[in-house]
Amino acid sequence: MGRKTILFLIVGVLGAYYGYTPLPDNIEEPWKLMWVTTCLKTMTHLGHFAELLGIGHFIDIARFFMSIQEVPPTSDENVTVMETTFNNVPVRIYLPKRKSETLRRGLFYIHGGGWCMGSAGFFDIDFLSRRTAVILDAVVISTNYRLAPEYHFPSQFEDVYNALKWFLRQDVLDKYSIDPERIGISGESAGGNLAAAVTQQLIDDPDVKIKLKTQSLIYPALQSLDLDLPSYRENANFLGLTKSLGVRLWSGYFTKDRSLEKAMFFNQHVPVESSHLFKFVNWSSLLPEKFKKGHFYNSPTYGNSKLAKMYPGFLDVRAAPLLADDNRLHNLPLTYVITCQYDILRDDGIMYVTRLQNAGVKVTHNHIEDGFHGALVYRGFKIGYRIENQYMSWLSENL
Ligand SMILES: *[C@@H]1O[C@H](CO)[C@@H](O)[C@H](O)[C@H]1NC(C)=O
Ligand SMILES: *[C@@H]1O[C@H](CO)[C@@H](O)[C@H](O)[C@H]1NC(C)=O
Repeated sequence: MGRKTILFLIVGVLGAYYGYTPLPDNIEEPWKLMWVTTCLKTMTHLGHFAELLGIGHFIDIARFFMSIQEVPPTSDENVTVMETTFNNVPVRIYLPKRKSETLRRGLFYIHGGGWCMGSAGFFDIDFLSRRTAVILDAVVISTNYRLAPEYHFPSQFEDVYNALKWFLRQDVLDKYSIDPERIGISGESAGGNLAAAVTQQLIDDPDVKIKLKTQSLIYPALQSLDLDLPSYRENANFLGLTKSLGVRLWSGYFTKDRSLEKAMFFNQHVPVESSHLFKFVNWSSLLPEKFKKGHFYNSPTYGNSKLAKMYPGFLDVRAAPLLADDNRLHNLPLTYVITCQYDILRDDGIMYVTRLQNAGVKVTHNHIEDGFHGALVYRGFKIGYRIENQYMSWLSENL
């Protein structure tokens, strides 16, 4: 038997074991995707099993498997890589080695991982930062931040914000020869959430004189008020990021208390006192027709106010950037948003695009019709390189 046959059999058996989810026709390299997501599912199931037995938190198990991804900061012929701290927050810095007559662009990057996993030092993230530095001839700062379940909101937000503020000091920019007029921020998934949140916060911060030129949000999570959007309904069981995992990660950003997770799953966590916030996430008015097709808007079911009193984070604009009003959005920098068709978070990104456009912000929306959550950093997938090329060319034109 050839290697392909063996792989086919393994995938087949595991696929059958986990319940085969038919993939849409337009997914490229479907077997590869099945294989990767089967590994992810196995990890998640082991995590839940360990939790059931009382051995550990499911995030600990996931982190244990993921820690093999950590690579040391290693310079190569094109980039000098080093680690330091900005305002006590650990960051990895990528400096192009090529000689430059002029000041360079700067890019502040925030990794994903559901606010509880990931690191600037993970192979995929390190690889992307390296390529960004070389392709754009830019200084890339890839930040870390404290993670759940040890730390909850707003620790993640505050770490990223503190590191960003440190980076935007003139003396720091001078040290790395960065042009203060050409600084961008990018983040992926939970990192896109943090990128959008700190970019909003920066607008009103009188201490920071240097402002961002661009923000790039890569399939970001932008709100947890309504977890019954069409994208949640359509992709509830899609490989990788299912609705139940998404809800677990969202609630885990705020607390270990599983009662929030339960309420969120049934979309009954927002108290009636906060009903005025629903207009900011009303998909019935904020999604283009194409994405509403076949779905009916249900008016919110309100929950009791106890959860919101205990964990007010989920109603906080620093955790849910979609809750900002138009006056605040109006001042945001040039924006690039990537959304993927097969992603529960798709409609978060699309609603933000609509809201930014309505507020007069210049936005480029790149919707990936055959995309799925995480596609940019799935190394070895053609789709990852395709999205990376589009993202880099937007940055090279706009930053
Ligand atoms: C350095 O850059 C050159 C030109 O872009 C590229 O061909 C080479 O593979 C790069 N080296 C590494 C180690 O990435
Ligand atoms: C959402 O928008 C629709 C119209 O598009 C409107 O009928 C409905 O009342 C809105 N609901 C909320 C909670 O804002």
